[in-house]
Amino acid sequence: MSYTYIVTGANRGIGLALTQKILEKGDNVIAVCRNESKTKQLRSITDDDIRLTILIADVTNEKQLDNISSQVKYVDRIICNAGTMGATGNMHDSNNNSDQISNVLMTNIAGPFFTIRAFLPQLQKSGSPKIAIISSFMGTQKHTSNSAYFYRASKAGVNNVMVTLDNELNHKGISIASYHPGWVRTEMGGNAATFSTNESADKLLKQFETLNLEKSGRFYNYNGEELEF
Ligand SMILES: NC(=O)c1ccc[n+]([C@@H]2O[C@H](COP(=O)([O-])OP(=O)(O)OC[C@H]3O[C@@H](n4cnc5c(N)ncnc54)[C@H](OP(=O)(O)O)[C@@H]3O)[C@@H](O)[C@H]2O)c1
Repeated sequence: MSYTYIVTGANRGIGLALTQKILEKGDNVIAVCRNESKTKQLRSITDDDIRLTILIADVTNEKQLDNISSQVKYVDRIICNAGTMGATGNMHDSNNNSDQISNVLMTNIAGPFFTIRAFLPQLQKSGSPKIAIISSFMGTQKHTSNSAYFYRASKAGVNNVMVTLDNELNHKGISIASYHPGWVRTEMGGNAATFSTNESADKLLKQFETLNLEKSGRFYNYNGEELEF
């Protein structure tokens, strides 16, 4: 039996590796990317255009998401991976301005919410519907850093949204959890990070597969350890 996944931010980084691993398992991916011109590497994974469908939408744009949703019949798994970092510095970082802050909060908090809402009708047709939000350990309240104010806040925020979604969706048989992918070598994570995208994607998919209604509504590390948030 094969499953159909939605993966957002699938054209590079962790999203690209997740897409590759899911296809290797024999499952199908609907890869959501915001920019057609950046899908070359994704398209090079396979020429099987039945198992890999690429749809273009920005996760902050409800209309674009509704438009691509109308092209999708059925979904078993949604992985909300698309994310952005924004300002990485302290309160005087020049990128801590209202445009950048809005972008980080809209992408990392509202993006998963809009994505899940757009594909909920198709997910409800699945026999084992599940949702993963790729969050970050940087969003935990117990931290001692003085940097990346709004990235941290966005990941704290999306973990909170995840709990509300669990409260609304659990009784419909849909499980949802947030995951920290580890520190991963991507454009966001940088070259010094611990894991390759393949290592992180492997671990995330293994943990996501074990998600059930009982384990729903929580935040997990890439190794399955439950994290406080
Ligand atoms: N790397 C790490 O160490 C690390 C650690 C903890 C958590 N995370 C989380 O893991 C996820 C993936 O991160 P990554 O390291 O793979 O980052 P990345 O290499 O920077 O890739 C980010 C992906 O998200 C897409 N994206 C950004 N904004 C979008 C929007 N508004 N609509 C649609 N797609 C959008 C990007 O598309 P474009 O190519 O068009 O920009 C890209 O595909 C993120 O949620 C991140 O916060 C990463």
